[in-house]
Amino acid sequence: MEWLNSISEDIIPRNITNKEEKLEVARKVAMKVKDGDVIGFGSGSTSYIAAIEIANRVEKEDLHIIAIPTSYEMNALCQDLKIPTASILAHKPDWGFDGADKVNNQNWLIKGRGAAMLKEKLNMVNAGITYILVDNSKIVDEFESSDNNLSIPVEVIPEAVNSVKEALEDLGAERSILRKAEKKDGPVITESGNVILDTKFVEIYDGLEDDIKSIVGVVESGLFMDYSVEIIKPEEKKD
Ligand code: 5RP
Repeated sequence: MEWLNSISEDIIPRNITNKEEKLEVARKVAMKVKDGDVIGFGSGSTSYIAAIEIANRVEKEDLHIIAIPTSYEMNALCQDLKIPTASILAHKPDWGFDGADKVNNQNWLIKGRGAAMLKEKLNMVNAGITYILVDNSKIVDEFESSDNNLSIPVEVIPEAVNSVKEALEDLGAERSILRKAEKKDGPVITESGNVILDTKFVEIYDGLEDDIKSIVGVVESGLFMDYSVEIIKPEEKKD
């Protein structure tokens, strides 16, 4: 029996910014799917669009794939789209795709607006290659400290918030703010039961990701430096 309701309708964000460009890159990654692939599915609106495009190909061409989702929402969307899912405990991804909040000219990424960076990074380090799907608003030359919107999310075990904040300041953080939930009192709690500090650094230097990770109580950060990624961006428009 089929459900009359679909969780996707509640999950897919209603107002997706830069939707045309996101659709363009989503279609490009969907063309990479081959029968039998185990694929890491990232999170965020671009990844949701890519999942829909992949599901269209799977249905039309009778492909057999397995998705390893990186968030509650992506897992639910895959169920709705009839894409079989598995935990990374059961399968190693052949490749993956994901979105990003910012990409610089060294292919460093800032991720984690959706607080899913822990599983996103777990998929990424285990996949041969991860295609990063970005619209033009995400692409920058350098990560400029003057950019007020450029904050790095840091996932922290709840008991360690004060001590991690202090250690982040020692590393050059101007501020680190506990991410608050919307429509619930208190902080955002991640799928692994942790909290997020949105952290603004004076300088994003080579090695900062490792320095953040070495703080006791930090689980992961949204800084992705030197991973095996290929950036998929929209075609340049000719005038
Ligand atoms: C979630 C992420 C997302 O991939 C990132 O925020 C991009 O999202 P969107 O595709 O909606 O712009 O890192 O944790």
